[in-house]
Amino acid sequence: PAKLRVSEAVSGAELGANVKVQGWVRSVRAQKSHLFLHVNDGSSLQSLQVVASSELNDPLLTFGSAVEVTGTLKKSPNQKQLVELEAEQIHIVGKCNPLEFPFKIKERHSLEYIRQFPHLRCRTNAFSSLLRIRSEATTAVHSYFKENGFLQIHTPVITSNDCEGAGELFKIEPSGPDYEEEEHFFSVPAFLTVSGQLHLELMSGAFSKVYTFGPTFRAENSQSRRHLAEFYMVEAEVSFAQSLEDLTKVMEGMFRSATEHVLAHCAEDVDLFHKHVTPGHREIVEAMLRNGFPTITYSEAINILNRSSENFAFPTDWGCDLQTEHEKYLVKHCGNIPVFVTDYPYDLKPFYARDNQDHPEHTAAAVDLLVPGVGELCGGSLREERLDLLTARLQQAGLEDTYSWYLDLRRFGSVPHGGFGMGFERYLLCILGVDNIKDVIPFPRFSHSCVL
Ligand code: 4AD
Ligand code: MG
Repeated sequence: PAKLRVSEAVSGAELGANVKVQGWVRSVRAQKSHLFLHVNDGSSLQSLQVVASSELNDPLLTFGSAVEVTGTLKKSPNQKQLVELEAEQIHIVGKCNPLEFPFKIKERHSLEYIRQFPHLRCRTNAFSSLLRIRSEATTAVHSYFKENGFLQIHTPVITSNDCEGAGELFKIEPSGPDYEEEEHFFSVPAFLTVSGQLHLELMSGAFSKVYTFGPTFRAENSQSRRHLAEFYMVEAEVSFAQSLEDLTKVMEGMFRSATEHVLAHCAEDVDLFHKHVTPGHREIVEAMLRNGFPTITYSEAINILNRSSENFAFPTDWGCDLQTEHEKYLVKHCGNIPVFVTDYPYDLKPFYARDNQDHPEHTAAAVDLLVPGVGELCGGSLREERLDLLTARLQQAGLEDTYSWYLDLRRFGSVPHGGFGMGFERYLLCILGVDNIKDVIPFPRFSHSCVL
């Protein structure tokens, strides 16, 4: 018999065929004359119903055990499914003691509970749906950029620069017995990247529109529900960008296109979240897609916060950075849809941000996209392309030598340009309504936790 994946078997395309299906048992029900199993192999949320005569029953056929079933695909008399597999043979490939297995049959375990079992949680419906959504969303992001003329660049994981200047770097050195500790392996201190931006900027000087999508690392000491030490970031860089609008168009376009793609291609998996895990979130996602994303300036945001009757824990004076509580308030204030905040105080932004010299307050042409439930999803800016201004700022920070190559980009064919980064896990939180970032990445790393 031909091997068939469960998703193909349940589609009904192979009715009448003699097939072999391999997977893990999701439910077992023994009646007097018949045995019913549900077998799932991760190809979709759906399990295949297997019907066997009770002679094929075996006490080792338990929830979580691995099986190989051979039989014929028949039209199911049950309304709930198109197809069932009439089993001729059931082979138990790997048993699973139900007393020791942390997940129980017919129970809907919380994301928090399954998080305790990072090596097993992909066996649950919720987490396997999440991983299929994550994979499809990755494809959607790449498709968006391809369709819009961006070249994908593999920016390095190991780098000697601290793009964000926030001092959250992980330093790397080899640890072999032949290694002399006094000497840096790369001759200079090297780190895991916090952002591929600077590498993208130099590439944008040849390819106009570039992007990257890969892991980034930050030694964040926070135990927050939206920070990880290793997270995936989508970053884009656009040459000849004249205004922040040239960037917000890309952020909004990517958000919409990826979200529509995921809703269309992962309908069942997304439904599992929107109906059972985070009920009510579908309306929020639909509202996000229905409305254009408004834009307010940082100064307007400060006014909104100061006019509110909320008791914020952090100050809201002009010049203070927006905290998560402020970001969430602003999103609600704007109708619980994504909102762009532009023109932050110059001193809050890294050296590369473009000086808004024509503004009354000293601001930078930077923009964040804030979204429901999460707060900051994207951060971006126009880059300082003017050699004199950039040199002055780097000198001030004592970084002129470190970034001499970056200054060169402003010497040789410099153009106005800008870009942004989107935290991919935060994007998943936003569209699924999940509230802990550890639940949307296969292997979460955060302070004091690097299991597996
Ligand atoms: O705002 P950030 O720090 O911006 C940059 O790194 C720019 N260099 C990007 C660019 O312009 N190319 O980070 C971008 C986004 C944030 O908005 C947030 O969504 C996410 O990355 N992010 C994190 N996600 C999870 N865990 C963390 N520790 C994160 N830090 C940032
Ligand atoms: Mg930011």
